Amino acid sequence: MASFSSSLFFLAILFSAAHAQHGLVLPIQKDAKTSQFYATIQMGSNRTKINTVIDLGAQFLWFACNDYASTTYAPIPCGSSKCETARGMGCVSCNLPPRPGCTNDTCASPAYNPFQDALVAEGFAEDTLYSKNQVAVPQFLFSCMDSGYLEGLATGATGLLGLARTEISFHKQVTGKLNLLDKFSLCLPSSGLGKLSIGPSAKSGIPKSLKSTPLIINPVSNAPISSENEPSDEYFIDVKSIKVGGKTLSVKDSYFSIDKNGVGGTKISTIQNYTALHNSIYKPLTRAFVKAASNMKIKRVAAIPPFRACFSSDSISKTTAGPSAPTIDLVLPGNDVYWRINGGNSLVEIDQKTTCLAFVDGGSNTRTSIVIGAHQLEENLLEFDLVSSQLRFSSSLLVQNKSCSRL
Ligand SMILES: *[C@@H]1O[C@H](CO)[C@@H](O)[C@H](O)[C@H]1NC(C)=O
Ligand SMILES: *[C@@H]1O[C@H](CO)[C@@H](O)[C@H](O)[C@H]1NC(C)=O
Ligand SMILES: *[C@@H]1O[C@H](CO)[C@@H](O)[C@H](O)[C@H]1NC(C)=O
Ligand SMILES: *[C@@H]1O[C@H](CO)[C@@H](O)[C@H](O)[C@H]1NC(C)=O
Repeated sequence: MASFSSSLFFLAILFSAAHAQHGLVLPIQKDAKTSQFYATIQMGSNRTKINTVIDLGAQFLWFACNDYASTTYAPIPCGSSKCETARGMGCVSCNLPPRPGCTNDTCASPAYNPFQDALVAEGFAEDTLYSKNQVAVPQFLFSCMDSGYLEGLATGATGLLGLARTEISFHKQVTGKLNLLDKFSLCLPSSGLGKLSIGPSAKSGIPKSLKSTPLIINPVSNAPISSENEPSDEYFIDVKSIKVGGKTLSVKDSYFSIDKNGVGGTKISTIQNYTALHNSIYKPLTRAFVKAASNMKIKRVAAIPPFRACFSSDSISKTTAGPSAPTIDLVLPGNDVYWRINGGNSLVEIDQKTTCLAFVDGGSNTRTSIVIGAHQLEENLLEFDLVSSQLRFSSSLLVQNKSCSRL
């Protein structure tokens, strides 16, 4: 009997390991109106489909619970150890009839809506998370919000999928529960379906030419709530300089580094639609780009805000990898390591006539000098390896005749 149950047990382990190797894969769609990217998750006993906007800088998953029903739903009690792990802030209660999102003595979650710049404390809860590829993650922790809190999110999206470096971020919970290494990859599509893949990627789909750079820690958090001396949980990389058309921009080194107050440096954001640069980087970059474009016989036309350098679309030649434009290279530590931004990512077509340099001026008081935005991430495969603290990146897949939808 003992051997029978232990072999069953062994089988069960084998089975779950085989299952887990796949990790969890979620298709990503782009909302044309807001340029936000969202993934569809399935939650609870009824596998309710929920569209959640992907936010690399957000700390955990939250979604509107008003119409949510599930027999496996459970609120997290305040004072519990889970509440402590989640860094809940006291208790919330509710005077309406009980339902998901309305329970007493519930661990309060400091959920943040970046589009509203609003922080609201509502209740933490847990339920089973499902993915399209049939992976189930039980007791997945999230915050159950009121639908009054969705302002700024793409139409049809009712939540935010947080991928920051926290104990309860989306990837951390999935990899923890499925016993996988803490890695995820992200491929934001310009059209079609992209992919958010949690856990080590299947070898087959990965382009061979990924480059690698350390993910670095900003020592000072810029989160809506953080304690003193708390490091940031966002993803920073150590851009050392920028080249336009092969020539290094003249920019003071101090803008690229992060000082002891956490000011400066380069982070990656999926909710900022275009890369924002400190004014002292934006100006020389624009100047150099306009000059290099002019050398390529690209004709400048009147600017369309928020962009300052726009061009006649007719004067730009098209390739299978997007418009042909001067290259922009983010130079990274190491020998010959750089993130190349080609025309498909450096330019945006505003209308048939006008194409603009798709970078915005972050002003001269910006906390982070370079915030790499979603337009520059499209059709790039990014692999965040939190085990070795490395970011592996492909640059534009289109150059290799690949795309996020064909990975
Ligand atoms: C860019 O983001 C801003 C702020 O979230 C938003 O108002 C705007 O519609 C976005 N622009 C585009 C072209 O998506
Ligand atoms: C789940 O879905 C079924 C069929 O649509 C419905 O009858 C049931 O009430 C739902 N259960 C919950 C808990 O929402
Ligand atoms: C919470 O407790 C109050 C006071 O005991 C009670 O009136 C209320 O119905 C409870 N709410 C829920 C959702 O159980
Ligand atoms: C690019 O990829 C597509 C689809 O995989 C293929 O049909 C086409 O021949 C490829 N083009 C080149 C130039 O390799």
